[in-house]
Amino acid sequence: CGIIGYVGGRPALPILSTGLANLEYRGYDSAGVALSGEALAVYKTSGEVSALQSILPESTDHRAGIGHTRWSTHGPPTDENAHPHTDCTGRVAVVHNGIIENYDALRAELSDEHAFTSETDTEVVPHLIEDALDAGADPRAAVEEAVERLEGTYALVVTIAGVDELYATRQDSPLVVGHGEDGTFIGSDVTAFLEHTRDVTYVQDGDFAVIDDDGLALYRDDERVEPTVERLEYEADAAEKSGYDHYMLKEIHEQPRALRQTISGRIDPDAGSVDVEVDLPPEYIASIEEIQIVACGTSNYAGRYAAELLESTVDVRTTVEVASEYEFDGGRDPWRTLVVAVTQSGETADTLSAIRRAKRAGARTLAVTNTLGSTIVRETDDSVFIRAGPEIGVAATKTFASQVATLTLLAVHIGRERGTLPYGRAQELLDSVRQLPNAVQSVLDAEDRVREVAREYVDSDAFFFIGRQLGYPVSLEGALKLKEISYDHAEGFAAGELKHGPLALVTEETPVLALLTDGSRPKETLNNVKEVQARGAPVIGARTDAGDGSSAGAGPGGADASSYVDVDLPVPAIGDLEPLVANVYWQLFAYHVANEKGRPIDRPRNLAKSVTVE
Ligand code: G6P
Repeated sequence: CGIIGYVGGRPALPILSTGLANLEYRGYDSAGVALSGEALAVYKTSGEVSALQSILPESTDHRAGIGHTRWSTHGPPTDENAHPHTDCTGRVAVVHNGIIENYDALRAELSDEHAFTSETDTEVVPHLIEDALDAGADPRAAVEEAVERLEGTYALVVTIAGVDELYATRQDSPLVVGHGEDGTFIGSDVTAFLEHTRDVTYVQDGDFAVIDDDGLALYRDDERVEPTVERLEYEADAAEKSGYDHYMLKEIHEQPRALRQTISGRIDPDAGSVDVEVDLPPEYIASIEEIQIVACGTSNYAGRYAAELLESTVDVRTTVEVASEYEFDGGRDPWRTLVVAVTQSGETADTLSAIRRAKRAGARTLAVTNTLGSTIVRETDDSVFIRAGPEIGVAATKTFASQVATLTLLAVHIGRERGTLPYGRAQELLDSVRQLPNAVQSVLDAEDRVREVAREYVDSDAFFFIGRQLGYPVSLEGALKLKEISYDHAEGFAAGELKHGPLALVTEETPVLALLTDGSRPKETLNNVKEVQARGAPVIGARTDAGDGSSAGAGPGGADASSYVDVDLPVPAIGDLEPLVANVYWQLFAYHVANEKGRPIDRPRNLAKSVTVE
C-alpha cells in the first residue's frame, strides 16, 4: 500500500491526489484521503486512484491531510475497507501499511464501546486513539498510547480534528519525510512526493514524527533528536508511456538501454574483471563458503539464473530461496555465508524479513536492487544497483534483465577474486554480457512475428514453458509473466520433469514454449518437445541461431532444432545469456496474449508492484 501526508502553505488536496497517483504501483484496489482541519473531511472509495479523484471536490482550503492507496490484506477492496479509517466520532483518521497482528484481540476488547465499520486490522487504531483522547490524553500522547498497544508491522500516519499536526510512526514498514520549500511531506516512499523535494529524512523503527508548519520534530526513545536530512540524487521520472500503449511494453522495449546502463563502466574486458562498486574485501570473498540468494517473484527467478552461473562457473555453493520461506539454518558458518537479497523495489517485506533473519544469525548481507535509498539498501552491509531506471508496470521486465546482468557481473567479480574463475571463462561471460543489449534488440525487432504467434494461440487452454539449466528459471519467469497479465493458466517446468507428471495435462490445446538455446541441453529438451508433440501440443521454440539462420545441429543426430518446432524463434549466439535474450520473446508473447484479451496489463487484478506486507 502507499501513504502520503502533507502539511504546509499550499492546498493539500492536489498534493495528496497526485501523490497517490504516483504511489499506485503499491496497490490500486481502493484509495482515500482525510483533509485536516477543525473537522476532518474524509473521501474514500474502492477502485483505482482515478475513482477517488472523481469523487474529490475541485478544490478546498485545507493545508494538511493524509492519503492512502491500498492493496488488500484484511478484508476485500470495498469502500468501507478503504483507508483512511476513522473513530466513532470522526475526530481521528489513520492511514496504515502493514499488518496489526493482535487486531482480533483489540477489536474484541473495543467492540462493546465502539462501532466498527470495516473488516480491516487498521480500524482498531483510530478507536484506540479515541479511547485515549476520551481518557484525557493530549493528541500526541493519545497516538503514542495507542501505538504501544499494537503488535505487528506498521507505518502509520494520523490526523486529528482541530490539531494542526500530523503524527507518524513505524515498525518494519518504511516511512520517509520530505522537507519542501513550502511544506513538509511524509510518504511510504519518496515517489509519493519526489516532484516537490529531494531532501528527505528516513523515519526509523520506533521513531515518533510530528509534522506541522514548522516542519518535522522527531522523537526517539522519548528524546527529541535532530533529523538527518539526505539529498536524493535521482531524477523524478516523467513516467510517460512515450507512445506505447502500456508501461510494460515500453519497459520491454527499454531493455537494451537499461542493460547498457547496467553494464556501463563496470567491465574491463582486457583484465577480465568487473567493478560493481561493492565493498566486499578480497579476504572476505576468499573465505565465503556459501552464497544464499533470497528474493520473491521475478527477482527470485533472476536469483536462480545467477545461482546456476555461480555454481557452474564460479564454483561457489549457492542456494536460492523464496524469501518468505527463508531461515538461516544451522550447520552453516554465518561468517562464511553471504546472503544476497535480490529486490527491484528494495521494499518487499518478505525479502526484508529474510535479510533481518540473516543479520541476526551473523551473516554478511548484500542487496541487489534498482532503488537508491530503499529500505534494503539501508539495512544490508553492501548494495549493488542494477540501474534499470524506474519500472512502472506491475509485471517486472527490464528489471529482470538488469538483475540477471548485474548478478552475472557480480559472479565474475566473486569468481575472479576467489581465483576460481579462469581468465578465459571470465571473458566469455563478460562477452556475453556485452552482447546482451544488441541481442535483445534483435528479438524486439521480431515483435510483429511474436504478435502473430500470440494471436494464433490466444484461445488455448493453458501454456507450458519448459527448459533446462539456465533455461529453467527463464521458463518459470515466462510462465509467471503470462499468468500475471493474461490470467491464463501457465506453468514453467524443468523440461526433464514433464514426463514425471505435467505431461498428463498436455493436449492439442496447450502450447508448449520450449527453451532450446545452446548450453541449456537443447538435445535433451528436444526429446521432451517430441513427447509433447506426440500428444498433439504445438511447440514454440527459442533456439540459438548459428548466424546462418540454422541452429547448428542442436537437434538429435545433429538435426536443425528449428525443424522440430511449430514456431521457430531464433536467438543470437551470445553464450551464457542466450536464455535471458529468449526471455524477451516470452515477455512479448505474454504481453500480446494479454493485450488480445484486453487485460489491464500495467495493473493486473489482485497484484501490486511492491508488496510491503509479509
Ligand atoms: C511483487 C511484484 C513482482 C515482483 C515481486 C518482488 O510480487 O508483483 O513483479 O517480482 O513483488 O519484488 P521486488 O521489488 O522485491 O523485486
